[in-house]
Amino acid sequence: MVNAGSKIWVFKEMGVSGQEGQRRPLIAGNWKMNGRRADGLALAEALGAWAKERQASRGSDMLVCPPATLLGAVSEVLAGSWVAVGGQDCHGQEKGAHTGDISAAMLADAGASAVLVGHSERRQDHGESDSEIRAKAVAALGAGLQVIVCIGETGAERDSGQTLAVLSRQLSGSVPVGEGGLSAGTLVVAYEPVWAIGTGRTPSREQIIEAHSHIRAALGEMIGDMADGVRLLYGGSVKPENAAEILALANVDGALVGGASLKAEGFCAIYDAAT
Ligand code: PGA
Repeated sequence: MVNAGSKIWVFKEMGVSGQEGQRRPLIAGNWKMNGRRADGLALAEALGAWAKERQASRGSDMLVCPPATLLGAVSEVLAGSWVAVGGQDCHGQEKGAHTGDISAAMLADAGASAVLVGHSERRQDHGESDSEIRAKAVAALGAGLQVIVCIGETGAERDSGQTLAVLSRQLSGSVPVGEGGLSAGTLVVAYEPVWAIGTGRTPSREQIIEAHSHIRAALGEMIGDMADGVRLLYGGSVKPENAAEILALANVDGALVGGASLKAEGFCAIYDAAT
């Protein structure tokens, strides 16, 4: 069994604003429903070997979120590495009669130190509401996990000028304000425009800056000064070719990467673009 506890501490320590309010970048990979055991282990081994060489010179955090079937095996490969492992979703309750679901405590037990909640594919494929996502986030914090709350507008919402209102609504509905365990180190928000996910299309620099500064301000109204230390990730068609430009934008503290996280070389190139 992997002991996630020490990694959670490291993760938190690194995530909280360090000197002069700097937020340490986080590059997170979301493998989605991809990979059999051999693929997942090969990818984890490649990342682990790469991370070992970077042990001393790393400037950002790295997280991988494999499918649940691979979580334990990937955690074991990366045990002792500074690369953290997370889940892609969790249930809002601790345990019980919920066939097919996985609790936050089970993720932690399998070696996870973080979990994504509210990914747009969960919202779309499983009809997850903001209040359900909030309950998942509360459960994640209760299990000692760092929680990455995903938000983002659809193409239709952007076209009709609702982007910022949608982001505000999703934030206020799903961020677990007032819950135990919530801190700048345990909360991450990922802005992922639905129309940019897996499409090869990315928002303009101005659109990303506008969304991230809106999220920072909205969080400030919800959680006060703590908002300054919360990392805001951009996600949606991040690739080695566009990562440096996106990661340099104001209030972009890292990336949530789907397709390009499935190859170690590309994912590590994105990591390097952050540092
Ligand atoms: P993508 O996915 O990088 O393949 O666009 C991002 C995500 O859904 O997290």
